[in-house]
Amino acid sequence: MKQASVFSNDPWGRLHSLLEQKRYSKIYVVCDENTEKYCLPFFHSIVSFSYDSFCIPSGEQNKNLTQLELLAAQLIQKSVDRNSLLIALGGGVVCDLVNFCASVLLRGIDSVLIPTSLMAMCDAAIGGKTAVNLLNYKNQIGTFYSAQGILFDPIFLESLDERNLKNGFVEMVKHSLIESPPYIQDFLSLGWPVEKDLLKSLIKKSIRSKTEIIEQDPTELGLRKILNYGHTIGHAIESVCISRKEDILHGEAVAIGMVAESYISSKMFGWKNHIIEQISEYLKFFFPMNINIEGKETEIIDALSFDKKNEMGKIQFVLLEKPGSPVRDQKVSVELILGALNYVKNC
Ligand SMILES: NC(=O)c1ccc[n+]([C@@H]2O[C@H](COP(=O)([O-])OP(=O)(O)OC[C@H]3O[C@@H](n4cnc5c(N)ncnc54)[C@H](O)[C@@H]3O)[C@@H](O)[C@H]2O)c1
Ligand SMILES: [Zn+2]
Repeated sequence: MKQASVFSNDPWGRLHSLLEQKRYSKIYVVCDENTEKYCLPFFHSIVSFSYDSFCIPSGEQNKNLTQLELLAAQLIQKSVDRNSLLIALGGGVVCDLVNFCASVLLRGIDSVLIPTSLMAMCDAAIGGKTAVNLLNYKNQIGTFYSAQGILFDPIFLESLDERNLKNGFVEMVKHSLIESPPYIQDFLSLGWPVEKDLLKSLIKKSIRSKTEIIEQDPTELGLRKILNYGHTIGHAIESVCISRKEDILHGEAVAIGMVAESYISSKMFGWKNHIIEQISEYLKFFFPMNINIEGKETEIIDALSFDKKNEMGKIQFVLLEKPGSPVRDQKVSVELILGALNYVKNC
C-alpha cells in the first residue's frame, strides 16, 4: 500500500498543486460541529477552489455506520462521482470516518486528510487505518486506505482545548518510548503548556516516527504492533469506562495503560527502579480527572480478552525490554496485570 504524501512544508501550496495535477470534478469538505466553527473559516480563507461542505455531529459516539450512511447519502445527492475528492477537516473521528467513506464510496474515491486535533495530527491521520465503531466496540469495521495527502497546519491547534491537547500529547510520549534511540528524556524535562515551536517540532518528530514504522509494515502484520504500546490495557480501561458512561478520552486511558505496561515491562525485563518511577511520575499528569480504576479490575481483565490483537485466546502485549526496545506478542499472567493495576492505583 502506497503511503499518503505528507504536506507539512508549504502545506496549502502542496494541496493546490495536487488539485492542479488531479483536476477533480468535485471537491467535498467534511467537518464536525466544532471544526465547522473553528477550522472551516480559516480553510475557506486560504483555499482558492470551490467546494461543498458537510458537517457531522462531533464525538466518538458518532463514529458509526449511521453517520457513514448519512454522509454517503448526502454525497450521492450532491452528485459525487469517481473523480471527486473528499477532504476531512477535523480530529480523529472525522479523519477515520471520512477516509472510511472515501475508501468504500463508489468503490473508492480520493481523499485528503486535514487533521485539526493533536491526536489526529500525530496519530489518527497517519497510517491509512480507517474505521467506525460498532455496538460498544471501537473500530470494528474499517479498511486500510491511503489518502492522496495529509496536510499539517498547527494553526488549527489554537482553538483546541487543553484536555484534547493533553490527550494527543500522550501519543507523542508513546512514540518517544518505542523509538530507538528513545527520546523520552526530551519530554521528562518539559513543563506544561509546551511552547509553540517546540510543540511543532515534537509533532514533526512523531509524524516521522509513526511514518517510518508504517512504511515497513502498512497492514500491521508485525512491526506496526509496537504502536500499540500502552494500548492493550489502555483500550480495556477505555471500554470499561465507556460502558459505565464515565467520561474518559483515549489518550487519558493510554496514559494509564503506558504506566501499567511499563510496570509489567520493568518486572519482566528487570528495569532499574528510577526509570519506571520517572515515566510514571511524568505520565500521571495525563491521567483522567475524576476516574478511578479501583473496583474495575475484573471488568478490565474481562475487557482485555476482547482485544483485537489477541490470538488463540491469549492476551498479547507489546512491552519494552527497555525504553526504545519494544518487543511484541508478549504473554503476561493475570497476576502481573493485576499487580500493574495496583501500581497505577498507588501512583
Ligand atoms: N486511524 C488511526 O490510526 C487512529 C489512531 C489514533 C486514534 N484514532 C481515532 O481518533 C479518534 C480520536 O481522535 P480525536 O481525539 O481527535 O477525537 P475527535 O475527532 O472527537 O476530536 C476531539 C474534540 O476536539 C474537537 N476538535 C477537533 N479539532 C479542533 C480544533 N482545531 N479546534 C477546536 N475543537 C476541535 C472535536 O470536534 C472533538 O470535540 C478516535 O476515534 C480514535 O479511534 C485513529
Ligand atoms: Zn492511541
